Amino acid sequence: MTPRTSPLGVVVVGYGYWGPNIVRNVMERPELELIALCERDPAQVRRFEARTPGVPSSDDFDALLADPRVDAVCIATPPRTHYALARKALEAGKHVLVEKPLATAVEDAEALVDLAERKELVLMPGHTFLYSPPVNKIHDLITSGELGEIYFVTSSRMNLGLYQADGVVCDLAPHDLSILLYWLDRRVASVSAAGCTVFDPDVAETAFLTLRFEDGPSANVQVSWLAPRKVRQMIIVGSRKMVQYDDTMPDGAVRIYDRGLDMEVVQEPANFGEHRLTYRSGDIVAPRIDAAEPLSLELADFANSILTGARPRSHSRLGLEIVRVLAAAEASLAGSGEPVVISREGTLVSKAAPLGPDTRAA
Ligand SMILES: NC(=O)c1ccc[n+]([C@@H]2O[C@H](COP(=O)([O-])OP(=O)(O)OC[C@H]3O[C@@H](n4cnc5c(N)ncnc54)[C@H](O)[C@@H]3O)[C@@H](O)[C@H]2O)c1
Repeated sequence: MTPRTSPLGVVVVGYGYWGPNIVRNVMERPELELIALCERDPAQVRRFEARTPGVPSSDDFDALLADPRVDAVCIATPPRTHYALARKALEAGKHVLVEKPLATAVEDAEALVDLAERKELVLMPGHTFLYSPPVNKIHDLITSGELGEIYFVTSSRMNLGLYQADGVVCDLAPHDLSILLYWLDRRVASVSAAGCTVFDPDVAETAFLTLRFEDGPSANVQVSWLAPRKVRQMIIVGSRKMVQYDDTMPDGAVRIYDRGLDMEVVQEPANFGEHRLTYRSGDIVAPRIDAAEPLSLELADFANSILTGARPRSHSRLGLEIVRVLAAAEASLAGSGEPVVISREGTLVSKAAPLGPDTRAA
């Protein structure tokens, strides 16, 4: 890998809903310099030009990749375009930050991870929540043991959302999955998913996922574009304490409950009836959480990993694992909710029927 120096030259691809946030943060980070925007919709290009005078734009991705001032590419286009754009950028020797999910098919995500590793380039999926201060506060509570053994997590991510061709699982679940994998730090062993499809039989607007993690906790994730209001809530239940995280409340996102159930043994119990359950109901604490823009921290991590070789927190193998879980969820949805097992090697196996020779991207 050619050593890079700061500021790193960046091209942002896509200026729809999310791209403008990446453009703004690239321009604000001292380690990065926006060389150009790549966008093919003239209306979006006009928006960009009005807000960002003096920075060029082009719809010719190949020409931008040929520019030696460009060290890295940030891809903020729809999920089904990620693989082709990221592959081109890696082949051109550029570091890549690609929005979530890394790709829409497992074999595509695997190919990108292999290519980046072979070329010693940073490939970072944009799992922004890994840089969110409340998510990191809860990560600290879990890893320090303050919550005790984690029994289960529930997550609801719903709103009257923008209908997208890739489906609600691909759109919203990467956030929950990235947070869960980061917090619990173990692989997902199986997924079952049920859904609700109102408008297009091929695109679920609502899905309910049940995840079983290796050696431990379960998680339930509800994602929907059909809800009366924005819901972004997670509950973490541990043996010592419980946490509620409501991402719609910036000032009070995390509440730690000193609550739970303890089983008290009555002398030498002959049966379960001689155990006594006691309820703990202690303080509710709202910890102080420093304000910071997650996307800015994510871009700082991207720059740092290019400059130092350190693995970013949101790393490519985590992105690949998330694509596998998404594929398992989609396969379970298609199979009427039958659990899909993810083997240690990463292949998907349906309990109902074999998924075929290579249905990892089902
Ligand atoms: N990390 C987050 O919190 C977060 C939040 C929202 C969206 N996203 C992700 O950002 C990505 C983009 O989502 P969005 O809602 O902004 O989509 P969008 O459809 O609003 O915008 C995509 C833009 O990309 C452009 N585009 C598509 N193909 C292109 C190509 N080949 N070359 C140049 N431009 C191209 C389109 O013209 C469009 O303007 C998705 O992967 C989404 O999952 C991430």
